[in-house]
Order: sequence, then structure tokens, then C-alpha cells
Amino acid sequence: MGISRNAVWKQIEALRREGVEIEAVSGTGYRIAGDAEAFGEKSFKAYLNTEWLGRELLFFKETDSTNDELRRRADKGAGEGLIAAADVQTKGKGRRGRAWKSYGGVNIAMSYLLRPSFHPNTAPMMTLVMAMAAEKGIREVSGLDVKIKWPNDIVINGKKLVGILTEMTAEPDFIHAVIIGTGVNVNNKEFPEDIRNTATSMYLESGKTYSRAKVAAAITNAFEVYYEEFCKTEDMSGLKKEYDEVCVNVEEKIRVLDPKGEYDAVSHGIDDQGRLRITRSDGTDATVFAGEVSVRGVYGYI
Ligand code: BTN
Repeated sequence: MGISRNAVWKQIEALRREGVEIEAVSGTGYRIAGDAEAFGEKSFKAYLNTEWLGRELLFFKETDSTNDELRRRADKGAGEGLIAAADVQTKGKGRRGRAWKSYGGVNIAMSYLLRPSFHPNTAPMMTLVMAMAAEKGIREVSGLDVKIKWPNDIVINGKKLVGILTEMTAEPDFIHAVIIGTGVNVNNKEFPEDIRNTATSMYLESGKTYSRAKVAAAITNAFEVYYEEFCKTEDMSGLKKEYDEVCVNVEEKIRVLDPKGEYDAVSHGIDDQGRLRITRSDGTDATVFAGEVSVRGVYGYI
């Protein structure tokens, strides 16, 4: 075919860098060994159609946590829109100090660096914006009927598919950086015993495997659009209708896990500040903050 061995080797190495497993058989050639799925800087960028988010994108075969990776870079002056993504995280972080496990070859772990000019009190709502983007991106690529569990878990059939951790470095009235980290269970075929009843993956819900690059890019494309809408008003007023349409906690019975005491309520969707509007069983209305309480269905996690 008029291609030198060296040129073939270069292409093979490029594919390997994107995570495609390729065996070399001496005297014969190369063979794709595992799933031919590429997930790396090139493949992620290939599906991106953003203006500014992810134009600079760092991909790691392994890192401690993509949130921590961005935090270190933010402290050294990295700019808005930088994305860090990884195949494996050795110290992935979940909310409330919990660990988030990343399984190589099947998960997405990615974080966005943002430097908004709004007040730090506004930042927690960005997590709801991220949830909308994850819901939309996953639905677009897979057609799966995913939903948001307020404020920011993505769930399907009563189990969690995506976790989001938003962290911020700020002074009382000035944000230095917001880092939004998202973990998506894409092609996991199983989960350890302790989370088997609450965690699921796109594969387990559909029997199909998906390109992590496509999923990650679809989520990122959606985030840029939603985030720009959010920045116009610095609240959820322009997005809350769409949020409520895909939120499981709308006109549902819920259990409010308030540290001051749990109670039952009916949830109605979010207000402009991203708080959940509820009616308690004694008939009184209230709004609850994600930082103060969490909710679950009266019969289980959702
Ligand atoms: C949760 O507890 O639901 C939040 C999980 C967030 C996990 C993601 S994976 C990418 C980013 N890096 C981390 O260390 N955590 C977030």
C-alpha cells in the first residue's frame, strides 16, 4: 500500500495513546486485543463542538483525582475551560468525604475548571447545571431514559449512573476557581458487592457498550450551552423548567434527611436558586437547600 512500517507504527502508537489495546505479533503485524474503544485527548476532542470549554484538554492514563489535578493547575494560574480527564483515578473523591472508585477502561472521570465572576453563594447551583448536561449528553448518545435526582445525581431504574463533585477555592466575596468533577459509569459490567444495589452503568442498563469519548464530549457540549444560559441570570430561572422536566423529584413523595430531624414531604421541583420546593405532611410549604439536607424516596434511594 506504499506505507512504510514506521508510518504504520506511528499510527499504532497514536491509537495506543488513546487507550486502544493492540498486540504486536512479530512477523505478522498488529491486532486489536480488547475493545477497540479509544478514550484519550484526541478522541475526546474529536467529538467536542464547544467554543471555549475543553479547547485545552489534559488526558491522563492515571492520576490521583481529576479534581485535584485541576486544583493544582488552577493554583498555578490555569485558565477557564481547562478539562482534565482520566482513565484511572487512584484517589477519586466523592461527596461528603467518600471515595469514588474509577475502574480503568470503563468509566469517565473528568473535571472542568471555571473561573466565574459571580458571588461564591451562586456557585452551588453550577452543580445542577452540570447534572442537566450529564442527563442530556447521556440521553443523546444512548437514548437511555436517565433522570436527575435532586440536586445532582443521575439515575436510572432506581440506581445511580453519574456522580458530580463541585469544589471551589474562594474568598468570602470572590471566587478563585470552581472545579466540577463528573464520574460516569459507562461500560462497567459489574460493581463490587457494597454498591451493587445502588450503582449502575450505561452498559448494564442497555446491554450495549458506548464510546466514552462520545459520551464525555456530548456532556461537555451540553454543559457549555447550559452554563452560558445560567451566566446570563446567575441563577436557575432560565433553566428550571427544563431541569424539572428531567428531575425524578417532581410531585413525588420524598423523605427529607435533615440533620435536625427527618420528615416526609411532597417535592414540587426547584426554585430560581436551585432549592427544592416541598410541602411537608402537615401542609406547610418550604424550600430546602442541597447543602443542608438530602432527600430520598419514601421507599428507597430515589
Ligand atoms: C459523588 O459522590 O456522587 C460524586 C462523585 C464525583 C466523582 C468525580 S470523578 C471525576 C472527579 N474527580 C474526583 O476525584 N471526583 C470527581
